[in-house]
Amino acid sequence: EAAEKGGYEHYMLKEIHEQPTALRQTISGRIDEMNGEADLELDLPTEYLNSLEEVQFVACGTSYHAGLYAAKLFEEYADVRASAEIASEYEFDGGRDPWRTLVVAVTQSGETADTLSALQRAKRAGAKTLAVTNTLGSTVTREVEDTVFIRAGPEIGVAATKTFCSQVATLALLTVYVGRQRGTVSSSEARELLSDLRGLPGAVQQVLDREEQVRVAAEEYVDGDAFFFIGRRLGAPVALEGALKLKEISYDHAEGFPSGELKHGPLALVTPETPVLAVLTEGTNAEETLNNVKEVESRGAPVIGCVSEGMDDAGKFVDEVFEVPELGELEPLVANVYFQLFSYHVANLKGRSIDKPRNLAKSVTVE
Ligand code: G6P
Repeated sequence: EAAEKGGYEHYMLKEIHEQPTALRQTISGRIDEMNGEADLELDLPTEYLNSLEEVQFVACGTSYHAGLYAAKLFEEYADVRASAEIASEYEFDGGRDPWRTLVVAVTQSGETADTLSALQRAKRAGAKTLAVTNTLGSTVTREVEDTVFIRAGPEIGVAATKTFCSQVATLALLTVYVGRQRGTVSSSEARELLSDLRGLPGAVQQVLDREEQVRVAAEEYVDGDAFFFIGRRLGAPVALEGALKLKEISYDHAEGFPSGELKHGPLALVTPETPVLAVLTEGTNAEETLNNVKEVESRGAPVIGCVSEGMDDAGKFVDEVFEVPELGELEPLVANVYFQLFSYHVANLKGRSIDKPRNLAKSVTVE
């Protein structure tokens, strides 16, 4: 087993470090930067895509957070109403037209019962279905009309890390694919997102190279009573994912929410013993989140900010800066790698069972 972990203490840490490789596999052969197009070998007729009124991403857990990220990208680039739906809550209702609704199941394993049953509902209603998964031959691939594989390679750690990164990258490619077919995104705008995708493995590597800084920060804040993660727009799903990762493996109380919601409740829990982790990058309306940062600081909470290289100003307002390389709309995804490392080191300092957290399973095949 030690050999399988490739010298890392845990599979999770190994998988966090595999992200640049996983991402290269995810995007390999799928980016046509010259024409500003994504080549996904999908069989979705342009006529159908033009008539689309809505895209729904159905998923659970970490995959749901990838769906939230994707829904924001879709609304912006593909100019279509898009939402992420928690699979166990999913109903095909609201009077939507099944012929004009595309339902995308996002599932690492391809076996999650809640996601499969949501898909059945969508199919019964007559909607077109797609799967975005990591697993060849998985049940989901037999249930849908077409599949896009995220190609992240096997993930052993129960807490999803590299697969989240590859899911979002794949969904960004899908955004370009649909946006270009629908003619809602120009080739130059598409080229920009595609070039950010190309830069993603390198940017993630830069964060991994700063692991020691994150480990030291984890040591400093490990005794926090609770941890809050905040972010806006594309930073909101990353805040949710950061909190999920930390609670899964450290068993600490962690909550993630859109920054603006802080004042509507969670602020009551903020004390000098509750570190706040904020996403302050491109794509996250960082200026507004900074106001929330000031609110928590005035209550004595320490703040760790994932800050874009280009936004030095924001750095002045936080106690600890995790620097994020410039990468446009994908900067929040890169910031997430800091959250993965932070969660890992907090859990490791506490001696938790990182690869197999209590009560959790990698793949949940019951509803
Ligand atoms: C389980 C795992 C999570 C995962 C979720 C959805 O709860 O512990 O890490 O995000 O299932 O899994 P899926 O395979 O559908 O992405």
